[in-house]
Amino acid sequence: MSLLMAVSSSPRRNGNTGLLLNSFVEGVKSQGWETEICRIHYLNIGMCQACDFCAKEGECILDDDMQYIYSRIKEAQGLVVASPVYFGTVSGQLKIFIDRFQCWWQAKYRLNSPFVSEEEGKKGFFICVSALTNKNYCANAAEVAKVLFHNLNYRYIDSLSFEGFDIKGSIKEHPDALEKAFESGKKFASK
Ligand SMILES: Cc1cc2nc3c(=O)[nH]c(=O)nc-3n(C[C@H](O)[C@H](O)[C@H](O)COP(=O)(O)O)c2cc1C
Repeated sequence: MSLLMAVSSSPRRNGNTGLLLNSFVEGVKSQGWETEICRIHYLNIGMCQACDFCAKEGECILDDDMQYIYSRIKEAQGLVVASPVYFGTVSGQLKIFIDRFQCWWQAKYRLNSPFVSEEEGKKGFFICVSALTNKNYCANAAEVAKVLFHNLNYRYIDSLSFEGFDIKGSIKEHPDALEKAFESGKKFASK
C-alpha cells in the first residue's frame, strides 16, 4: 500500500491549514493509500545547528522527532506539506522543519548518496492559506516548498492556495474549498 506523509505547520488546532490538509488526506485515503498526519508544532523538532556533522556522516546529529520523520519520508510515496502564510512566506515552524533536511541536501549533493532517488517517482504537493488576497504570498511560500521537494528528490506536482481566510476555522464556511482539497488529494493519489 502507498503511504502519504502529511505535514501541517500551523499551531492552530482545527485551523484553516489543518482542515484543508485533512480534506486532501481524505481524498488520498479514498484511493486506498495509507496516510499519516504530522502536526509539527506539537513535535520535538530542534533548529538546524549548521554543525556540519551531516556533511561527513550524511545524517543529522540531533536526536529528536525528525529522526522518525526522516524514516517515514524515505518510506513514503507522497508528501503533502501545508502552511499558513506568516509574514509573506511559510510559517516559522515549517521553515525550521525544512532546514532540518540539510542532511538530505548533503547526502544528495556532497556525498552522492541521496536517501530517495528521483527514479522512485515520489510526489510532493503544497497547500497554503493566507489572510490577504492579491499579495502573491502563497506563491512565495510555494517557492520555498518547491526547494524542499527538489532537495528531497520528490517531484513537485502542484499546490493549492486559499487566500482571504484569517479567522480560525473560517474555511469551514467554504465547503467548495474543502471539496477542492479533497479532489486534489484524489487526483494526486491516482496520477
Ligand atoms: C504570525 C502570523 C503572521 C501572519 N502573516 C500573514 C501575512 O504575512 N500575510 C497574510 O496574508 N496572512 C498572514 N497571517 C494570517 C494567517 O495566514 C491566516 O490567519 C491563516 O488563515 C492561518 O491559518 P491557520 O488557521 O491554519 O493557522 C499571519 C498570521 C500569523 C499568526
